[in-house]
Amino acid sequence: MKLLEAVELTKVYGAKRRLRNQPFSEQAPAVNGVSLELRQNETLGLVGESGCGKSTLARMLLRLEAPTSGRIRYRDMDITNWNFNRMREIRSRMQIVFQNSFSSFNPAFDVSRILAEPLRNSGIRSRDEQRRLSAEALESVGLSEACLVRRPAELSGGQQQRVGIARAIVLRPEILILDEPFSSLDFSLRRQTMHLLSELKQQLRLSYLFITHDLSIIEHFCDRVAVMRQGEILERQAGVELQTKARHPYTRMLLDAIPAQHPRQRKIGHVLTENCTRTE
Ligand SMILES: Nc1ncnc2c1ncn2[C@@H]1O[C@H](COP(=O)(O)OP(=O)(O)OP(=O)(O)O)[C@@H](O)[C@H]1O
Ligand SMILES: [Mg+2]
Repeated sequence: MKLLEAVELTKVYGAKRRLRNQPFSEQAPAVNGVSLELRQNETLGLVGESGCGKSTLARMLLRLEAPTSGRIRYRDMDITNWNFNRMREIRSRMQIVFQNSFSSFNPAFDVSRILAEPLRNSGIRSRDEQRRLSAEALESVGLSEACLVRRPAELSGGQQQRVGIARAIVLRPEILILDEPFSSLDFSLRRQTMHLLSELKQQLRLSYLFITHDLSIIEHFCDRVAVMRQGEILERQAGVELQTKARHPYTRMLLDAIPAQHPRQRKIGHVLTENCTRTE
């Protein structure tokens, strides 16, 4: 079943005019006629180089940014033009985890306030209820209630990212958009966070739109994957088949850029060996 759908979505940023008598110049579209669907309980990967329009697409899907053209559907509803009040009804159903949670927090707020904010915005006014739901969300991400009184700067990078995930799940959404959730983390934290997200997906019956540069994760983490370049979707594959079935040269190039696990399989090693052999 389709949960969230982009239909021919396009975003063109800022019409700018350098001099008064010059015509408005439009930038190339950040997102150009993208159609995409997120199905229930799946993880859909969205990969592509920096600046290709992944976050812009995500922001449009969440209605944090208005599309220049195209439609957005949530379940069977066309939400493209829903106003603020109407969006409030479904805002709690779809949440986002940012690349760097720390920069998305108000540094003056402690964790209890960071987690209470979405609850308050969705109409949960009781302090006790806010505290209960916040503690529950923290527990789900493996943090103790003691974190509630800490400010973001008093947490480690891994803990900050967990608080970012707790904030995203505190309203019990059905869709999480994960916008490069691991890129500010080191290798071991990346694995832990990936494991945590897989568990949460099962426990809370979530569907993920997982945005990443890192194609090495796709096979293990994504059911399907869409490859994006310069605002357009170039190809789609099942996650496990991306390595073997990728057709587009751009996708092959991204796959070739994944460092091999074993030194003998590393491309650079082959090149050097070949060159050495030739010169010898
Ligand atoms: N608010 C904005 N105003 C003008 N241009 C923007 C704005 N936000 C994004 N862009 C431009 O839109 C294009 C796509 O940006 P976007 O952030 O969606 O890329 P991305 O794929 O998420 O990149 P990254 O992987 O680096 O996060 C870029 O060229 C960017 O400069
Ligand atoms: Mg981005």
